[in-house]
Amino acid sequence: MTSEQAVPAPQMSSRNFTAGPLLSFLASAVRSPGQIGAVAPSSARLAGLLASVVPTSGRPVVVELGPGTGSVSTAITGRLPAGSRHLAVELDPRLAAFLRRAHPELEVVDGDANDLTDLLAARAAARVDAVVSGLPWSLFGYESQLGILRQVGAAMTPGGAFATFAYTHTLPLPPARRFRRTLHEVFDEVVVTHTVWRNLPPAYVYVCRRPRPAATGVPAGG
Ligand SMILES: C[S@@+](CC[C@H](N)C(=O)[O-])C[C@H]1O[C@@H](n2cnc3c(N)ncnc32)[C@H](O)[C@@H]1O
Repeated sequence: MTSEQAVPAPQMSSRNFTAGPLLSFLASAVRSPGQIGAVAPSSARLAGLLASVVPTSGRPVVVELGPGTGSVSTAITGRLPAGSRHLAVELDPRLAAFLRRAHPELEVVDGDANDLTDLLAARAAARVDAVVSGLPWSLFGYESQLGILRQVGAAMTPGGAFATFAYTHTLPLPPARRFRRTLHEVFDEVVVTHTVWRNLPPAYVYVCRRPRPAATGVPAGG
């Protein structure tokens, strides 16, 4: 039996279709609290703001990190033109299996964002137009944060953008301030959006552009 066959069927009957993602999310949060880092999936409002960095024309390649049960994936899919690619890198194999069934439009990648460069190279997607993250940064150490962000910056096309979120109540805390400094280490431009109050808990988004050559090893504009 493969690991995918061992995954319990998701809650997808017409009666409980909307409960499927939430129950899957909560099950993962209980099973792996040190990997999820949230009490609920992102709201449609927050998902829409995160997805605003996704191009709506051409045939863009978009990478989503930590898609979970797909709340942000839905917002990204809604913007993508035909012929685009949407790769979704998920560490939790059960969530990855859930996503494959609930979001067949995604290229779900069972993998760790810490290995982003290799994961993208293996899928002939070395350069990407946008990266959208749902990763629980507060659960990662500085080295891991920096390593992932450098790989994100190195993968982005010159006009590309990266979006990620943080919870508003954590803003004054040292880990959140340190993460913001790390974003500035890697990106020349870091914009903080308004607070999305319709999210549990309220959150804001960082939109980052122009990765620094010194941080990513990629020459400016290259
Ligand atoms: C806070 S949840 C976000 C889920 C969804 N994007 C949302 O906003 O509702 C974090 C997700 O990141 C995944 N994750 C955690 N560490 C990861 C890693 N190193 N690589 C890839 N995914 C990871 C978790 O399994 C989980 O699905």
